[in-house]
Parts: sequence; C-alpha cells; structure tokens
Amino acid sequence: MKNFLFAVAGVLVLSLPVLQAEARPTIEELQKRAVLDDYEANVLFGYNIVMDSNRYAPRYAGNGLRCSSCHLNGGTKRDGFPLFVAGVYPKWRAKNGVRNSLEMRIRDCFLYSLSGVMPPEEAPEVLAVSAYISYLSHGQPIGTPPEGWGVPTLPETGADPDPPRGQAVYKRECTMCHGADGSGTAAAPPVWGFQSFNEGSGMNVVPRLAGFIWANMPMGKERSLTHQEALDVAAFLHIQHRPFDPREGKLKKLAEEIYHGLSRLFGKKEPVTPQAAR
Ligand code: HEC
Ligand code: HEC
Repeated sequence: MKNFLFAVAGVLVLSLPVLQAEARPTIEELQKRAVLDDYEANVLFGYNIVMDSNRYAPRYAGNGLRCSSCHLNGGTKRDGFPLFVAGVYPKWRAKNGVRNSLEMRIRDCFLYSLSGVMPPEEAPEVLAVSAYISYLSHGQPIGTPPEGWGVPTLPETGADPDPPRGQAVYKRECTMCHGADGSGTAAAPPVWGFQSFNEGSGMNVVPRLAGFIWANMPMGKERSLTHQEALDVAAFLHIQHRPFDPREGKLKKLAEEIYHGLSRLFGKKEPVTPQAAR
C-alpha cells in the first residue's frame, strides 16, 4: 500500500512540469504585461486583428465587419465558427480544389468575408492571426475536428427555405440590431449591402448561414428560432444585394465601385458599423 502511494505521488510530481506547461496566459494577462516575447506579441497582434480588423489590418480589410463578427467572441465560441482549429490543417477543400493551409483560409476570409484584398502569404497580419489561432488551439485535438467546429448542420425540415417568410422573421427578430435596411447599427454589423460579406463568402451559403443564425442569433436569444425560421431568414439574407464575388472579374468590380461612389455622392447614407462607432 505504502509503495503504491509513493508511486502515485511520484507520478504526480513528475507530471507537474507538464501540467504547468499546459497553463497558457490569457489575453488579458498578455495585455497587461509590460514586456512580451516575440511569440506573445504576435498572438496579441492576431487577437487585435480578429477583434478590430479595420483598425489593425486596414491594408486588407474591406467592409464593415471584423473577423469576430462571424468567428464569435474572438473565435472562442463553439458552433460560432470557432478558430481553435489549427489541428485540422492542412486540409483538402473543394472550393479551390487543393489542400489548404491555415494561412490560405485566413487570406480567403480577407478576400471574401471581409470583402477586402487577399494578403500575401507572408504578410505580418496573416502570420499574426495564424499565431493567435494556434494559441487558441492549445489542448484541442490534432488531426480531427474540435468539438463545436463550424456551425451545426440543421436537420431537413421538409419545407424549402422561403425568403418572404424570412423577411417577416427578419423584421421581427433582427431589425433592432442589424437595421431595417440590413446596413447595421451601432449594436451590430451589416448583414447585406456594400459593407457586408461578398457573394463568394462561405457565409453566403444558405444551409451554413441558417446553422449560424440558429445557433447564434438573435444574439442573447440563441436557439430560439425554429430550424425553418432560421432557414427562411437565411434565404432572405441570401437574396439581398451584397458585393460581387471577386472571382467574377475585374470589370464587374469596377462597375460596382462606380455605382457605390455615385450612391455615396447622392447622399445615400453610409452604414454605421460598431467599428466606426467606437
Ligand atoms: C462574414 C463572416 C466571416 C467573417 C467576417 C470572417 N470569416 Fe472566416 N469563415 C467564415 C465562414 C462561413 C467559414 C467557414 C466556411 C467555409 O468553409 O467557407 C470561415 C472559415 C475560416 C477559417 C477556417 C476555419 C475552419 O473551421 O476550418 C479561418 C481560419 C478563418 N475563417 C479566418 C478568418 C479571419 C482571420 C477573418 C478576419 C480576417 C475571418 N475569418 C472573417 C466566415 C467569416
Ligand atoms: C441583440 C442584437 C442582435 C440581434 C437581435 C441579432 N443580431 Fe446578428 N449579430 C449581432 C452582433 C453584435 C453580431 C456581431 C458579433 C460581434 O461582432 O461580436 C451579429 C452578427 C450576425 C451575423 C454575422 C455577421 C454579419 O453581419 O454578417 C449574421 C449573419 C447575423 N448576425 C444575422 C442575424 C439574424 C438573421 C438575426 C435575426 C434572426 C440577428 N442577427 C439578430 C447582434 C444581433
């Protein structure tokens, strides 16, 4: 018995350094530190980009969103496109037909979801977000998706998504935060229009958008919509005007910029975004 206890104590002592290595400073701790090493400084830069993309990555961000508009709570929310996903990459992806690195996914989201410019592979912004993602991935599985990956896949409802019904849901449940014209308010970012994600974004896919909305919206009342309501409102958002898919060509992009410029000239109000309001 005594020997057994010694053995247990021995194992505990031996595993202490391992347990200590598990402890990771929180972002708040990093923010308070006077001196950061290179890795920590990079993690903090990545966090700042995710939380306030227009301010910390102005060269590449393009609209009224920030990464955390969709990767909720700085990428820490399960079923809200969490970013603790480093262990899943590199990964095959049908969208571009190649095996994608984590960095490729980050660059893609700048181009499509932030409707901005694709940064080069070695851009400091991309490396910083990548460092933040591996920081978040601490303790998550390697080679298999973490729990709460992406958003839930909603079960078949037996009825097609219906945009007019979705419009009624939008008016009732979303207008107070996202605005009657979808352009956002000080409380929430735009969900359509020029300041929103573009047509090529992974968010512009009805079943995925429905899963996101069902699990995360209306904020504070998550999971209160029926699956059908989530599908309907996703279909309503899907048919609204938003920036073109940049893969569709430069000419279309140019026409769009001229139109955008003209509508600004003739006094169409520019949407307020939480970032601009801060
Ligand atoms: C408009 C919503 C939206 C915004 C804003 C957005 N993303 Fe995404 N992001 C998505 C969606 C949707 C997916 C997953 C769907 C897919 O496969 O396209 C995704 C996937 C990712 C992935 C892969 C995650 C995984 O689960 O495999 C990474 C990494 C990522 N985004 C990083 C970023 C970064 C960094 C930013 C800010 C520069 C950003 N995203 C902004 C919607 C968004
Ligand atoms: C109480 C306010 C509130 C309500 C109500 C609300 N949202 Fe949101 N929504 C937010 C906030 C805030 C974010 C961004 C989160 C962040 O930046 O941290 C967001 C993000 C989103 C996004 C992803 C980012 C974007 O702008 O495209 C979508 C899509 C969305 N909401 C759809 C909806 C839909 C559909 C409804 C109604 C069913 C709804 N929301 C109701 C506050 C709200």
